[in-house]
Amino acid sequence: MHNSCRLLILQASPRKESRVVNAASAISEIVKNAGGEIRVINTCQLQVRPCNGCMKCRETGICILPHDDMKTVADAIQWCNALLVAAPTYWANIPGLLKLLFDRMVPVLIKDGPSGHFPIPLHKGKCYAVITACSTPWPFNRLIGESSAMISAVKRIFRYSGFKYVGSIQMGGNRSFSESNCEHLAKALLRS
Ligand SMILES: Cc1cc2nc3c(=O)[nH]c(=O)nc-3n(C[C@H](O)[C@H](O)[C@H](O)COP(=O)(O)O)c2cc1C
Repeated sequence: MHNSCRLLILQASPRKESRVVNAASAISEIVKNAGGEIRVINTCQLQVRPCNGCMKCRETGICILPHDDMKTVADAIQWCNALLVAAPTYWANIPGLLKLLFDRMVPVLIKDGPSGHFPIPLHKGKCYAVITACSTPWPFNRLIGESSAMISAVKRIFRYSGFKYVGSIQMGGNRSFSESNCEHLAKALLRS
């Protein structure tokens, strides 16, 4: 029984019949059945202002912009010990609204180290995984850097946060999720 898993799912597709949302739901069921707790945030429904680039949060840990839905996500990231980013591949990258949200997450994920150069990770001991889908068929979605570039973009964002990467699912072309892939990823999240 993995009753200590607190999984936050950030799902970032605006579509009802989204492939990434369907795959994330399958993983959510597996984690729930293993005793884990789940929170789901549909990032397409959030009202989040764009980062203004002032860099004040690097010194203070606090964003100077007026409160918006960023707070909901920040609180959920503090709550979770496992994170699943479920987002489609747009222009071989993460969707714009999700990127905007991650820009605002700087003070939640890292803080400036004493030298001011190397950030201190704020989520050591936690883990994350990524699910994406794209229209480029397998294996080209990986080979020419479509879904694989999207995964790399997420990894770069989480690189300094302390979250440990435990795996990903890339659905190319018309492929839907495979149950065994979802089971594998759920187990990786539960193990960590
Ligand atoms: C704005 C936009 C950009 C896209 N860019 C790419 C792309 O760069 N490469 C690709 O293979 N598919 C691209 N697609 C196709 C989506 O990745 C594909 O429809 C995916 O299945 C959507 O995931 P979802 O079903 O979870 O919403 C794009 C779709 C949209 C709407």
